[in-house]
Amino acid sequence: MIEFGAAVKREFLLESGVAFLNHGSFGAAPSAVLEAAERWRQRMEANPDLFLREILPGELREAAAELARFVRARPDDVVFVDNATAGVNAVLRALEFRARDEILATTHTYGAVRQAIRYVCDRTGAKLVEAQITLPVADAGILFSAVADRLSERTRLAVLDHVSSPTGLIFPVAELAALARARGAHVLIDGAHGPGQLELDVPALGADWYVGNCHKWLFAPRSCAFLWCREDSKRELHPLAISHHYGEGFTAEFDWTGTRDFSAWLAVVDALRFFDRLGAARVRAYNHDLVVTAASRIAEAWQTPLDAPAAMHGSMIALRLPPRLQAYGPPTRDTAGRLQSALLAEHRVAVAVMALGDALWARISGQIYNTPEDYEKLLSI
Ligand SMILES: Cc1ncc(COP(=O)(O)O)c(C=O)c1O
Repeated sequence: MIEFGAAVKREFLLESGVAFLNHGSFGAAPSAVLEAAERWRQRMEANPDLFLREILPGELREAAAELARFVRARPDDVVFVDNATAGVNAVLRALEFRARDEILATTHTYGAVRQAIRYVCDRTGAKLVEAQITLPVADAGILFSAVADRLSERTRLAVLDHVSSPTGLIFPVAELAALARARGAHVLIDGAHGPGQLELDVPALGADWYVGNCHKWLFAPRSCAFLWCREDSKRELHPLAISHHYGEGFTAEFDWTGTRDFSAWLAVVDALRFFDRLGAARVRAYNHDLVVTAASRIAEAWQTPLDAPAAMHGSMIALRLPPRLQAYGPPTRDTAGRLQSALLAEHRVAVAVMALGDALWARISGQIYNTPEDYEKLLSI
């Protein structure tokens, strides 16, 4: 059994001396998984014709099938995409919106996803409706009501975060999906942080589409994500890049969108093995306990609130920064970005800083390579 903390950190390429409290933004893949991806690349280079024409199609479907098993889906309902942004865009760009249709999101929807919605709205006359999320949040019922109250008979699509980006809050997506679909809206769950952080039964969530990153909490190499689609929502869906297999069905269209490096997708099998070797439940418990304990300690020292009760989180949690760090500047995206850079450059602490409402907040992550000492570094700033 691999010991978590300093021992397992040696399995990653992370440089020493930096407290990596931001696994949530870009993930980190272990050497074993990166080496597996490299082996796929070498196999492709040894005989590109054979590999891309004859070996790849079967291997890709097998990798998709393993991933599908992990999220309890049918293999034919799962395709690879490069990242959550691409998966969300594929859905948004494939649907036909009309003027006065509404796309429901929240004020905590990931910035890039909001921009993609805006783009679609600008082109079609549809309207972005944002449910207001105000921190701190007392319980999941408040998240439910905030979104449910903004559903209308015009809502054509609800874009729901499974785990929201700025805070790590877990949204009651199954309940919201049931309500939205009962009212005639389609549902896209942005599960960028879902795989690896949460135990997943994707079909049971009852959405039309689920997008999940494997390169965040599942230890896959970067540019490995998936898009799940329920059977009766496949007809409308096509990849962003239309290629040879247009009209041949969901998996055929998404499996080939042009020549690319397929190694990150194929190496998801090794990421799943790595995850399995660590023990999925053990990883989730370690990460949750570590980050929640650290967050409570920091919040007490800073005398500032957490975004919500600990139980509403998986492996990420946000805290309001103390007055001395609020003094860095007004709570804007620009200030948050500059402070985040300064914390890394001057204090060697990698942590996400966000401007939320009238304050700056820090979102900390817990991952198997972290130890309580990492968070002490943030506390000492
Ligand atoms: C909720 C959410 N959606 C989408 C994304 C985009 O992920 P990617 O950059 O892998 O496309 C992120 C990234 O952090 C996110 O937090």
